[in-house]
Order: sequence, then C-alpha cells, then structure tokens
Amino acid sequence: MRTQVAIIGAGPAGLFLGHLLARAGIDAVVLERRTRDYVEGRVRAGVLEQGTVALMAELGLDARLRDEGLVHTGTNIGYDGEIFRVDMAALTGGSAVTVYGQQEVMRDLFDAAEERGVRIVFEAEDLVLEDIAGSSPSVRYVRHGEAHHLACDYVAACDGFHGVGRGAIPADVLKVFERVYPFGWLGILAEVPPVNHELIYANHERGFALASMRSPSRSRYYVQVGLDERIEDWSDDRFWDELALRLGPQAAAGLVRGPSFEKSIAPLRSFVAEPMRYGALFLAGDAAHIVPPTGAKGMNLAVSDVRILAEALVRHYRDRDPAGLDGYSARALARVWKAERFSWWFTGLTHRFPDMDPFARRMQVAELAYIRGSQAAQTVLAENYVGLPLA
Ligand code: FAD
Ligand code: DHB
Repeated sequence: MRTQVAIIGAGPAGLFLGHLLARAGIDAVVLERRTRDYVEGRVRAGVLEQGTVALMAELGLDARLRDEGLVHTGTNIGYDGEIFRVDMAALTGGSAVTVYGQQEVMRDLFDAAEERGVRIVFEAEDLVLEDIAGSSPSVRYVRHGEAHHLACDYVAACDGFHGVGRGAIPADVLKVFERVYPFGWLGILAEVPPVNHELIYANHERGFALASMRSPSRSRYYVQVGLDERIEDWSDDRFWDELALRLGPQAAAGLVRGPSFEKSIAPLRSFVAEPMRYGALFLAGDAAHIVPPTGAKGMNLAVSDVRILAEALVRHYRDRDPAGLDGYSARALARVWKAERFSWWFTGLTHRFPDMDPFARRMQVAELAYIRGSQAAQTVLAENYVGLPLA
C-alpha cells in the first residue's frame, strides 16, 4: 500500500490533520493502535481556544459544538478564600474560550471521517518506521496478526507522549527539555450542576483546586495531590470535603455533591522535544511536547501544530514550495514555547510546592493580589489563556 502522508495516532492531532489533508485532496492514512471506543472514551481536555473552535467551524464540524459548547468570556481565580474574575473578552477585544470536552471533539471528527474520505486503520499494532532519513520512507505494522507495509512521502507522528515517532529521531539530533512537577491532579466527573457558570482556579494553602464542567448538569473538578497518593484512598466524600475547603466558603456555598463516575490521577509535566522535524518525519502534539494542564493548552497546541503542518504540506504538494515544510519545526516551536511558559507560570502561581517556605508562599499571594488589581497583568493572563495567534 502507498500513501502521501502516513499519520500515526488518531488523537486530536492525527484526526485534525487527517481532516485538513482530506479537504486539500492530499492522500493520507491514519494508523491508530487502539479502537475508536478507547480513543473516544478517554476523559481529557475540556477547554477549547478560539483558534480550535474556528478550525472546527472551518471544517464544517461545529454543529454540535455551537449547540452544546459553553462559551466562557471570563475565568475566575481564588486565593485566601476570595475570588476575582478576569474578563477575558473585555481584555482581548472579544476573545473567549469554549468548554467542550475532548471526547466530544473526537466524536465529531470520527463521525465525519468516512464521508470526508479520512481513512483510519484501527488496531494497527507493533508499528515501526523505516528510512525516515532516506528517499523511501515507510511504516510497517501488524493488524489482527497480519503484517502490513505502507510506503509514503512523509510520516506525521501524532502518537502522543508515549508513541514511537519521537524515538525514531537519533539521540544526537534530538534535544529534550523537561520539568517534572512533584504533584499530580486528582480529577472527577459527576452528574451535578457546576458550582459556578465559569471556571474557578483556586490557590489554597493545602494545594490547588479547579472547578470546571462539561455541561450545565455535569461537573469536572480537580484537586492537587501528592505523587504518592492512591485513588483508592480518595472516597467521594473525602474529595468533596477537600474541594470545598480549597475553593473557599464563598464558592463552596453553592457546591452540589454527588457520586463521581470517573476518578483518576494525572501527573504534571513540562516537556519539549526539538526539532519537530527529522527527514521525512514530523512530530505534532503530545508526541513533541507536554504542558501541565493548568493553562488548558495541551489539545489546543496539538491543533495549532497540525494547522501549521497541513498548511506546509498543501504548499509542498500544490505549489511545489518546500518552505513550509522546512520552516515547520521553527514555526511550531515558537508557539509551543510560549504556551509552555504560560502553563509553567500559571502552575507555579496556583500550586503548593513541597519545598515552599513562607517567603515563597507570600510571593504567590502578592502576585495574585497584584493581578487582581492590575488590568495590565490581567490582560497578560487573558491573552495567553484564550490562545496566542499562530504567527
Ligand atoms: P493523544 O491524544 O495522546 O493521541 C495520540 C494517539 O496515538 C492515541 O490515540 C494513541 O493510542 C495513538 N498511538 C500512540 N502510540 C501509537 C503507535 N505506536 N501506533 C499507533 N498509534 C499510536 N488539553 C487542553 O487543551 N485543555 C485541557 O483542558 C486539557 N486538560 C487535560 C486534562 C487531563 C486530565 C489530561 C490527561 C490532559 C489534558 N489536556 C488538556 C491535554 C490533552 O488531552 C492532550 O494534549 C491531547 O490529547 C494531545 O493530543 P495528541 O493527538 O497529540 O495526542
Ligand atoms: C479542564 C482541564 C484543565 O486542564 C483546565 O485548565 C481547565 C479545564 C477540564 O478538564 O475541564
């Protein structure tokens, strides 16, 4: 079998790229190790930047998003038991974010795949890349016990942090930059109305808490926990008590409790791999970079990567112009690093670090108080949160 672009991974990066290439008439095959149900079932991101919403609209895949997505023009920050609002729309000339789960995005992309000519091969296992630095790159994989060979011009590794793409770049070429945080997020989903109509990011002496949602009747909450915490030790009652304490009395007064139907712990990490291109191989999304979830950037970065990559591939195939592909890594990384900085900064501002002394704690509170009183500081937060331009 032969194709122009082999896409590894049917997460947000791989599927958006598949749709963008299909629209441009570029032949591509998406190879996914898991089943559709597995990929769609993963509870992950919840907040879409304006650029991500715009791409859904551009692809004509936004019918449900327009109907069910919750547009948020502001966000809220809590500390010392009080909460202040950052009016993102007023500070950014009208920009907003939309709460619409990654699971919903994936469902919309999968549902439209067949009619748009996006070819997806599920349960493609034991994938190996061949000759990515040479003139005849290809991908080998096994499906239901049968070996397959897919020859291609290019490989887009959209295979997440634990994929095989990044590992195909030689060690003397690949540079890795990393911070592992000494805590994780314990998250739950519950069929109860959200405590507030907008998100609340809370800094509390006991640790960070986040009040989010998936719909007017479904809440998504997170609390910062130590890396040694076990999910079994967190009963629903313990979670609700801790969340209420950290959100503070003002917010917690309206907290509706109920049984959780999803509960998991995610570690926090900042990670960037450079370059994002090696020969015929292009990395996109979590395959190349990870952000701590505080800034809600992970999926949005995957989307901006593949926008840049699709544009470059179209330029190559339509205009025979290699400039886009040659500039892909630098252009994508420029935006990635800014989102890395924002996510790292917002994590530092809102979390409790084990080595924090009273001075460090006072610095956090002083910065929060400064942001509360400064339109300039709120503008910096707002323009990063709604998403920086592609440039
Ligand atoms: P993935 O979604 O990881 O997709 C990669 C795909 O490749 C997977 O389907 C995998 O099965 C497949 N694959 C891997 N290896 C192979 C292989 N060898 N062969 C074939 N297929 C393979 N982001 C936000 O923007 N906003 C948020 O609010 C947010 N909140 C989050 C909350 C949590 C708890 C978590 C865990 C993440 C959150 N994120 C958020 C991050 C976001 O979910 C990820 O950044 C996003 O999924 C990245 O998309 P991706 O397509 O690059 O990678
Ligand atoms: C959600 C996740 C985030 O990381 C974030 O910053 C905001 C919201 C969520 O899952 O709803």
